[in-house]
Amino acid sequence: MPDWTALAADLDAADPLASFRDEFVIDDAELCYLDGNSLGRLPKRTIPRVEAALRQQWGGRLIRGWNDGWLELPVRLASMLAKILNVKASEVLVGDTTSLNLYKLALGALRAHERTEILTTTDNFPSDLYILQGLGSDLRVVEPDRFESAISNKTAIVTASHVAYGSGQRGDIAHLSAVARSHGAWSLWDLSHSAGVVPLDLSTSDMAVGCGYKYLNGGPGAPAFLYLRSELQETVLNPIQGWFGQDRPFSFEPEYQPVAGISKFQVSTPSVLSMVALESGLELYLEAGTELIWQKAVSLTAFFIDMVCSEMPGQFEVVTPLDPAERGAHVSLRHPDSWRITRALTERMNVIPDFRRPDMVRFGFSPLTTSFAEVSVAVNRLADVMQNGIYTQLSDEMPTVT
Ligand SMILES: Cc1ncc(COP(=O)(O)O)c(C=O)c1O
Repeated sequence: MPDWTALAADLDAADPLASFRDEFVIDDAELCYLDGNSLGRLPKRTIPRVEAALRQQWGGRLIRGWNDGWLELPVRLASMLAKILNVKASEVLVGDTTSLNLYKLALGALRAHERTEILTTTDNFPSDLYILQGLGSDLRVVEPDRFESAISNKTAIVTASHVAYGSGQRGDIAHLSAVARSHGAWSLWDLSHSAGVVPLDLSTSDMAVGCGYKYLNGGPGAPAFLYLRSELQETVLNPIQGWFGQDRPFSFEPEYQPVAGISKFQVSTPSVLSMVALESGLELYLEAGTELIWQKAVSLTAFFIDMVCSEMPGQFEVVTPLDPAERGAHVSLRHPDSWRITRALTERMNVIPDFRRPDMVRFGFSPLTTSFAEVSVAVNRLADVMQNGIYTQLSDEMPTVT
């Protein structure tokens, strides 16, 4: 059996991103935090910046802050995100939440398209499904393996998660978008589990949304983003007509006239403090670069899968694809006692993964903050939980919020 601890030490020593861990607040060195795909860690540089935004800008400058740079914040962030998404800055808007952005784009596109069918997958994130259910369209929900063949000349919008939140399965969105386009449909992707970790090719895609608080380390409830291809910006309109999407918001005209370009998808006053926090997360991503981040994500996930399979053979089903080309940066393990195992890891072993219904423990690997040593310690603790039956001492009662 390999010496995983020594192997992890070698991998950390050779890791070109290792120093980025020092850029983040890590108060508890013993904690194995494998949940950065739910909420990324806090960048150290965010603290003085948010404090300056509070004390000097809000406290000192008050309303004058808007003229001192607050209004430009969303634009600056959009140009940073555009580099991460590999698209033009004029195609990206930062703000609102992922669900809200999905609503704006899906309904805007539906109204602009002559067809009414929206096609999605059963493994899409529940909030996405809820939003789609509320649009009044013909919603078709198919199993992921039937998705491509279900695209037809009746489809208006093809939408799914790029990396599925549960299984970690990654779709080929460049290919699927091209298939959608060949049928006259538009594509709309949820990049929440890929933006900030997986290299993105949106060259054939029409629309996308995603979160700022996962791999982008923007903080709890960080602003989300949306992408709308330039060619559709005249056609697809924002169904939520707020004053920040108006042509001249500060002239206070009574009739709505959408501003040209992507800005029409802005609804209201930007959340300045959250945007200040998100900027540090985006900056760190850009300093590290997509290539190294993705290489490390592949190595971390492979290391985890290899170690789990070697140390606990046959105990878990690895739900996530073994081929890195078909996964993102999280790995889900299936076990009938997944909830109690998650509890044991969190409450007894100082390891934080996620439980995903009905039977998966989900481990997320954030290349800027997760070390190989952290992964090997986490798997050793998981082996302890399994070999010593620690999870059997816990009840399987579910809290209402997990
Ligand atoms: C894939 C995916 N889509 C959408 C959401 C919802 O994001 P928001 O709360 O910003 O609407 C989440 C939240 O975790 C998610 O994982």
